[in-house]
Amino acid sequence: MNKINNLFNNKVNQKTPIWFLRQAGRHIPEYYSIRSRAKNFIDFCLNEELIVESTKLPLKYYDLDAAIVFSDILMIPWAMNRNVKFTKNVGPTMDPMLPDETKIIKNINIPLLLKPLENSIKTLRRDLPPSVCLIGFSGAPWTLACYMIEGQSSKDFINTRKAIWGSNIWFRELIETLVIYITDKLEVQAKAGADVLMIFDSWSHMIPNNFFKDFAIDPIAKIISLLKSRNINIPVIGFPFKSGGSLIKYSYESNVDCVALDWTVNLSWALESINPSIAIQGNLDPASLIPKHNPFLRENVESILKKMKDRKFIFNVGHGLTPECRMDNVKQVIEIVKEFEM
Ligand code: CP3
Repeated sequence: MNKINNLFNNKVNQKTPIWFLRQAGRHIPEYYSIRSRAKNFIDFCLNEELIVESTKLPLKYYDLDAAIVFSDILMIPWAMNRNVKFTKNVGPTMDPMLPDETKIIKNINIPLLLKPLENSIKTLRRDLPPSVCLIGFSGAPWTLACYMIEGQSSKDFINTRKAIWGSNIWFRELIETLVIYITDKLEVQAKAGADVLMIFDSWSHMIPNNFFKDFAIDPIAKIISLLKSRNINIPVIGFPFKSGGSLIKYSYESNVDCVALDWTVNLSWALESINPSIAIQGNLDPASLIPKHNPFLRENVESILKKMKDRKFIFNVGHGLTPECRMDNVKQVIEIVKEFEM
């Protein structure tokens, strides 16, 4: 059994488990040579051999307690034929969805997406040591809807927010459709051998407060109840990015087993406010891994560990590692966490 699943099974007399959001990506030079073997990023995410290799890549350099399967949250919109493209220096783009567009329900390639994911996870679970927790993931309905409606990233997601107000029936239909595909994707990953699932809601902080429950909490609770009805009972980590005070309600009502905290969250506040019966993951600022010399790194990491020592806690960054993050800093953080005496 691995440390992360041990934690969820209440085995707490062990060292704090550690892994990093977006650990398989662009801060490791070798990532680029793996990526260059695929025609484009979509083909990369559909290629079993490349998925397996990139998922294992960070474990080649670091002593980590988890591997996250290589894919992208935007592969569901891709499978829904939204013409998703990852363009260099532009980021992901797709056809923006128009109000009342019903095309979303038709022509879906979900099995095309799920087969390589399923096979890769089976291979990974065979290849990885049992001490490494294998994490499957998906985007949350709201965040996928944001990209699908805007057609790209946005500073304020005004079209998505507009879709909520007034007659929002088509928007609710989109969320319900996404709930189904996300559940299917998570189910396949769990059945293939993932030990834990994670749901990324990167744009939950864009939701108007009075709709936070409708679009950030209820859809997650629905996904989890559908998973349970399909006999999937592995832990789920939810990540409602930068959602501030709404994290409290999320921690009580979404039914996640762990809430991941971004780097802006005050951990003393979190200890008092977040549902004490669930685990916490987070929340080192990934930017602290960029400077060549960061004199505060040890102190920061130890301060997080001290604060969280009596809590079910997974050490992680508060958002994904960026290409600028230094591998020697990542290594140092892992050493500090592994050395830390409770
Ligand atoms: O290391 C890992 O965790 C690998 C798996 C993974 C990727 N994307 C691969 C990827 C995961 C868990 C994601 C999640 C993801 N994708 C999120 C949620 C987390 C977050 O950052 O908030 C989001 C919003 C996306 C959408 C997305 N994918 C964007 C905005 C971009 C371009 C800019 C960026 O942040 O990288 C991607 C591309 C992407 N997904 C890359 C990787 C390794 C980079 C592609 C490349 O240039 O090689």
